[in-house]
Amino acid sequence: MTEFPELPHGFVFGTATAAYQVEGAVEADGRGRSVWDTFCAQPGNIKDGETGEVACDHYHRHAEDVALMRDLGMDAYRFSLSWPRIQPEGTGAVNPAGLDFYDRLVDELLAAGISPVVTVYHWDLPQPLQDAGGWQSRATAQHLADYAAIVGARLGDRVRMWVPVNEPVVVAMFGYALGVHAPGLQLGARALPVAHHLLLGHGLATQALRAAGCHTIGTASNHAPTWPASDSTEDRAAAALYDTAYNWLFADPVLCGSYPDHFAEAMPGPVADDLHVISTPLDFYGINYYQPTVIGAPGATPAQSSPLAALPLPDGLPFEPRPLSGHPTTDFGWAVAPEGLTEVLQTFRDRYAGQLPPLYVTESGCAVHDVVGADGQVHDPRRTAYHRDHLRAVAAAIADGVDVRGYFVWSTMDNFEWAEGYRQRFGLVHVDFATLRRTPKDSYRWFQQLLAARP
Ligand code: FCB
Repeated sequence: MTEFPELPHGFVFGTATAAYQVEGAVEADGRGRSVWDTFCAQPGNIKDGETGEVACDHYHRHAEDVALMRDLGMDAYRFSLSWPRIQPEGTGAVNPAGLDFYDRLVDELLAAGISPVVTVYHWDLPQPLQDAGGWQSRATAQHLADYAAIVGARLGDRVRMWVPVNEPVVVAMFGYALGVHAPGLQLGARALPVAHHLLLGHGLATQALRAAGCHTIGTASNHAPTWPASDSTEDRAAAALYDTAYNWLFADPVLCGSYPDHFAEAMPGPVADDLHVISTPLDFYGINYYQPTVIGAPGATPAQSSPLAALPLPDGLPFEPRPLSGHPTTDFGWAVAPEGLTEVLQTFRDRYAGQLPPLYVTESGCAVHDVVGADGQVHDPRRTAYHRDHLRAVAAAIADGVDVRGYFVWSTMDNFEWAEGYRQRFGLVHVDFATLRRTPKDSYRWFQQLLAARP
């Protein structure tokens, strides 16, 4: 597959991972416990009882992994810091060995010609903070800022871009409303304060990073264009409601300093002051894009083949997920719809005209159940096509005047896909989880050619 998408000079190509998904070494060098250690240890939470205890063992194999990234020729690597490795209690004393690990990783990346892009918090909340209320407690937002100040002071001189919080919507919805992610609470609509505290944490951590001398601070927020199941008034109204709750509830406070509709009334105060902090100006806005969501009014049809239908949705919701027909799906059952990426980028341009910093696609990718073939190779043409088409979708948005500066593949390598365990492989590099052997896939070679062919 040689038809490369055309993107502007200086466009950043990267790949991404998160600490708990790749590092393993959960007992090493003074690391504390996180909510994901606890959640994985509870039977029934993760497919096949898997855990992130070993994952890709990136903690011990980072040199090999950075060499693979260097050979790929990518510009930037987005990874997250494990909060319990750095601050085992979530507050107070720093574990020097934890901070040293990331210090070395940053230097190794720079030596390989790769810019480090750091996510401060990608879901692995220290367990002691969960015991004190987790994101239901306002204090957690300040603890995140204190931790951000620590890592900013140590790494800020070398990190190219910062993301304080990965996907607050997924933490609030999957972790606290539905209970399919850590900490496994099923609060339903009572999870709204969690969303507020995560956003407040984002704002306070942004300020703390800046005060520590860090620059280029943004988001990695999950957004999905919401498509009404039909043109009927009911379906359109249901889709608009879902769109607000999933997308604008998380983007408006950050970009405009206000909550959409009446959501401010559901939030714990002082909301007006908090919104001021939450809307601290950003240097970029990062969007994680996977697929659109189709939504209809409740009660019409059973929604069997919608990926959301597998979730334990509470009864009585004012909207209902529906299948997206006419699109291929990944092995995870997610629809492949690159036009949704163009749409979401255009929607941000239009909705936040005059208030929007440059955009990045901070994650996009597809799960395929890849295997190493008899020839020792991993042939994954669907992943190559996925990224080619999504890069073209970005190019289309840029041609339409949207300021998009980069694209990060999820993921650098196959890893622990949260509640799905190790089945869903998103990597450009295959990992054999029995031997931990790495095998670059065909999609890795495709990227290598794409990057080498740049003028
Ligand atoms: C995103 C997460 C990331 C990964 C991908 C598949 O929502 O940020 O950690 O699990 O989905």
